[in-house]
Amino acid sequence: MQVTLKIFRYNPETDKKPHYETYKVEAEPTDRVLDLLEKVKGEQDGTLTFRRSCAHGVCGSDAMRINGMNRLACKVLVKDLGTDHITIEPLLGLPTVKDLVVDMEPFFEHYRSVKPFFINNDPPPQKERLQSPEERARFDDTTKCILCAACTTSCPSFWLDGQYVGPAAIVNAHRFIFDSRDQGAEERLKILADQFGVFRCHTIFNCTLACPREIQITKAIGEVRKAIATGRLD
Ligand code: SF4
Ligand code: F3S
Ligand code: FES
Repeated sequence: MQVTLKIFRYNPETDKKPHYETYKVEAEPTDRVLDLLEKVKGEQDGTLTFRRSCAHGVCGSDAMRINGMNRLACKVLVKDLGTDHITIEPLLGLPTVKDLVVDMEPFFEHYRSVKPFFINNDPPPQKERLQSPEERARFDDTTKCILCAACTTSCPSFWLDGQYVGPAAIVNAHRFIFDSRDQGAEERLKILADQFGVFRCHTIFNCTLACPREIQITKAIGEVRKAIATGRLD
C-alpha cells in the first residue's frame, strides 16, 4: 500500500516558523510508523530529525503525536491507524529542538523534583531488604514507566504553563511512596502537595489513555492525593 505522511518540520536555525512536508512511501500494513520515518530519512530526506533507540517500546525515546494522539512510533502499526494518511508531530508542551525532537529537560526537571530514588537511612541489612508479595504488588503498576513523556505532554494542565509537575513525575513518586522499604514518603508528599503538585490534576484522563505501558496513571494520582489528604499510605 502507499501511505501519505504529513510531517511537522522545523529547524529553528533556518526556519522562521514551522511547516509541514508531505512524503509518499510504500508500506506494509504491519510496518510501524517508526519504519516509515526511517524510510523517509533513508530514501527521501536525510534532514528529517527524530529520536529513537530501542525500536521495541522499551527506551521511551520516540514518543510523538501520531494522528493527534501521543504514541511511541515503534509501537504503532500502519494497520492500527485505519487510514493511509498519517500526520506526525512533536509532543506538545515542550520546546521543539528540531522537527520531531523536543527538549526533554523541563520534563526531567519535574521528574527529579519528586526524588525518584530509594530513600532509607537505616544501615543496610546483611542480605536484601525483605518485602512481602503483597507489599511489592502495592506499587507494581508504577514501576513500569519508561519516561517517554507521552502522559505529561497530553495533559491540558501541563500545557497551561508547564509548571504542573505532571503525571509522569507523580507516577514515579508513587513508585517510591508506596514502597514499604522506602522512608521518603513524607518529603515527597510535601512536594506534591504544593501549588504545582497533584491538585493541579483535574482528572482529565488523557495521561492514562496515552501511556504506552498502560499504567493506571489517574488512579495512581488519586492514591497520592488520598495519602496527602489522610496522611496515611493504606
Ligand atoms: Fe510514558 Fe506512561 Fe511513564 Fe507517562 S507513565 S512517562 S506515558 S510510560
Ligand atoms: Fe492531566 Fe491526567 Fe490529571 S491528563 S489532568 S494528569 S488525569
Ligand atoms: Fe525505544 Fe520506541 S524507540 S521505545
